[in-house]
Amino acid sequence: MSARSVGVARGARTNLGLLALLAAAFVTGWVAFAFATAAARWSLGLHAAGGFGVIALLPWKSMIIRRGLGRPRGDRWASALFGVLVLISLLAGLLHSTGLLVYWGPLSAMDFHVGAAIATVPFAIWHVVARRVRLTPTDLARPSVLRGGAVVAAAAIAYAGTEMVVRATGMPGAARRFTGSYEASSFQPGSMPVSSWMFDAIPQLDQDAWRLRAGGRDWRYDEVFAFDDRLTATLDCTGGFYSTQHWAGARLDRLIGDPKGITMRVVSVTGYDRRFSIDQAGSLLLATRFGGQALDSGHGFPARLVVSEGRGFWWVKWVIAIEVDDVPHWWQSPFPLR
Ligand code: HEM
Ligand code: HEM
Repeated sequence: MSARSVGVARGARTNLGLLALLAAAFVTGWVAFAFATAAARWSLGLHAAGGFGVIALLPWKSMIIRRGLGRPRGDRWASALFGVLVLISLLAGLLHSTGLLVYWGPLSAMDFHVGAAIATVPFAIWHVVARRVRLTPTDLARPSVLRGGAVVAAAAIAYAGTEMVVRATGMPGAARRFTGSYEASSFQPGSMPVSSWMFDAIPQLDQDAWRLRAGGRDWRYDEVFAFDDRLTATLDCTGGFYSTQHWAGARLDRLIGDPKGITMRVVSVTGYDRRFSIDQAGSLLLATRFGGQALDSGHGFPARLVVSEGRGFWWVKWVIAIEVDDVPHWWQSPFPLR
């Protein structure tokens, strides 16, 4: 094999390694977003190792980039933009995890991290198609696999190392929850952060005009307010904060009567909705109060859902209806599309 073709083969392996690591980081990131349970912890361990693996390959990739940029191709800018987006995502992920910069104005490091990661997708697909790599049998041979294993091991060690440094030096990141989120205003409802999944603006609703459609009737605000079911639960926002509060309101099984169906669709005045299995009716709370005071508009007044086991995007705000039907609860986008 000539020196040049050895270089090309190494390049192919580096690129394929990057592809695998990027895909792994992308998938595990979303898995972590889906859960507020131990699954998030495991997924984030793999996620961070994937991210550090990308960083570990950058010295090799920089050689490929130099070679590629040297060729007179009109579409080099798209590869360069792809590179910038990956770097923004990596940097924002690390700023969040170390706690060095968690908020930047109204946006969080997580917003940048995930936003940039999503923006890479079309570029990544284009890049892989336009800069196709040629696999040779050597790429799949034992030494290559061992080298791949070494990269993964180095990434895992780098991750463990940074976690130790973050803890030993007392960086803010040491206080993260297992989902990576930071504590904010627990048991202080007045200063709890306000956030929404994507584009919902805060509606100002009139409590006298508001009605809740559930169990075949319309409930008035004072009727729902009269329930005093209580739950202490943690809202863990995918934006990167969590807040524990004492919530009070009505358990859903009290509102839906004798249900004829297998799922509940909880609908907001904004049109936002999420579906839940009917089996959860006894554990979900439609809250009208937190910390002994009525909700404010930003936190879902007149009534919002409390879902102990779900990340923030399950906690539908400004609820106006709970509809029971036979559509399975998994028949919905895993993440809201609006
Ligand atoms: C281009 C793809 C991505 C790469 C390369 C990447 C890489 C990283 C890195 C290096 C970190 C810091 C890890 C640490 O020090 O603990 C991180 C953190 C994080 N990422 Fe990603 N990420 C990507 C996409 C995503 C996506 C799509 C999501 C969610 C939908 C996500 C969610 C998170 C979360 C929640 C953290 C915080 C973890 C913690 O603080 O413990 N990432 N990511
Ligand atoms: C972190 C992810 C990646 C970044 C930031 C990145 C960026 C770049 C840049 C800036 C170039 C040079 C400009 C150009 O040739 O257009 C390049 C070249 C190239 N990339 Fe990537 N790339 C990444 C991952 C990948 C993957 C996953 C593959 C394929 C599986 C790939 C295959 C190639 C090839 C074949 C070249 C051309 C090299 C040459 O012409 O000699 N890259 N990449």
